[in-house]
Amino acid sequence: MLSSVMPLHEVNPIATCFSQAACSYDSAAHLQREVGQQLLQLCPSALAVQHWLDLGCGTGYFSQQLAQRYPQAQGCGVDIAQGMLQHAQRLRPYASYLCADAQALPLVSNSVDLIFSSMALQWCDDFAAVLAEAKRVLKPNGIIAFTSVAEGTLYELKHSWQAVDNQPHINQFRRFADYQRLCEASGLKVVHLRCQTLQQHFSSVRELSQNLKQLGAHHVQTGRNNGLTSRQQYMKLSQAYEQQRQPQGLPVTWQMVYAVLQAV
Ligand SMILES: C[S@@+](CC[C@H](N)C(=O)[O-])C[C@H]1O[C@@H](n2cnc3c(N)ncnc32)[C@H](O)[C@@H]1O
Repeated sequence: MLSSVMPLHEVNPIATCFSQAACSYDSAAHLQREVGQQLLQLCPSALAVQHWLDLGCGTGYFSQQLAQRYPQAQGCGVDIAQGMLQHAQRLRPYASYLCADAQALPLVSNSVDLIFSSMALQWCDDFAAVLAEAKRVLKPNGIIAFTSVAEGTLYELKHSWQAVDNQPHINQFRRFADYQRLCEASGLKVVHLRCQTLQQHFSSVRELSQNLKQLGAHHVQTGRNNGLTSRQQYMKLSQAYEQQRQPQGLPVTWQMVYAVLQAV
C-alpha cells in the first residue's frame, strides 16, 4: 500500500506544536475521544477492509481501535507531526506509521478501503486537496469517514479576545456550508454529513488555554505572532470571558462536522 516513507523535517509550525504536545495529548483529549468514538460508529460495519488509514492519527488512539475492529487488515496511521508518530509507535504499535500531509499523500492510488480521520482536517488549508487525495487513494466503494471543526468553534474565546485587542487569536475555521459544498463537489458520494454543536466547560481561562496547549491545538494560522499573553492581557481576557460564565463553568463551544463519503 505504501509507495514511500518520507520523513518530514518540521518546518511546519502546526506539526511543531503537535509534536511538542505528544506526551500531554492523551490526558487532555476528552472531547476528542468522544468525537472519535462517534465517528467509529459511523463507519459501516459491513465494509470489507483490507487496508485502512487513520489520517491525522496523533498518538494513535484510534489506530489501535481500528486495528482491533479490523484484525485481518493492514493499518497505517498518518500524521504530519513526527513527535506524535514517535509517541504512537512506542505506545500503540498496532499499525505502521507514516509522516505525511493529508493534502499530498505519498500513497499509491486505489489502495485503501477505509480512511478514518478525527479532528485533524481542520488544520488543512486546502480541503479540496484532502478530498481529491482521498478519492485517489480509495478503492471503488471505499469510505472516508471524518470529523472536523467548523466556524463557530471557540467563539466564546474569540469574542473575549476582542475585548483585549484586534489580533486574530483563534483560527478561522471553515464554514459548515463550505464543507458541504466541497464534499458535494469532490466526486465522492455523500453518505452522511451533519454539524453538531458540542459544549465543554472549564473552571478558568487558564485551564482552557492549558488544555489547548496540552492538545497542541494552540497554533494560530493567520499571521499573528503566537507569543506569550501578558498578565494584563490575561486579566482583560478573563474578565470578558467571565461575562459568559454558566453554572457548570466557562463554556467552550465546538461546531463538529461528521461525514461519511464513498468512492463510486
Ligand atoms: C487534534 S489531533 C487528533 C488526533 C487523533 N485523530 C485523535 O482524534 O485523537 C490532530 C492531528 O492532526 C495532525 N495534522 C494536522 N495537520 C495535518 C496534515 N495536514 N496532515 C496530516 N496530519 C495533520 C496533527 O499533527 C495532530 O496530530
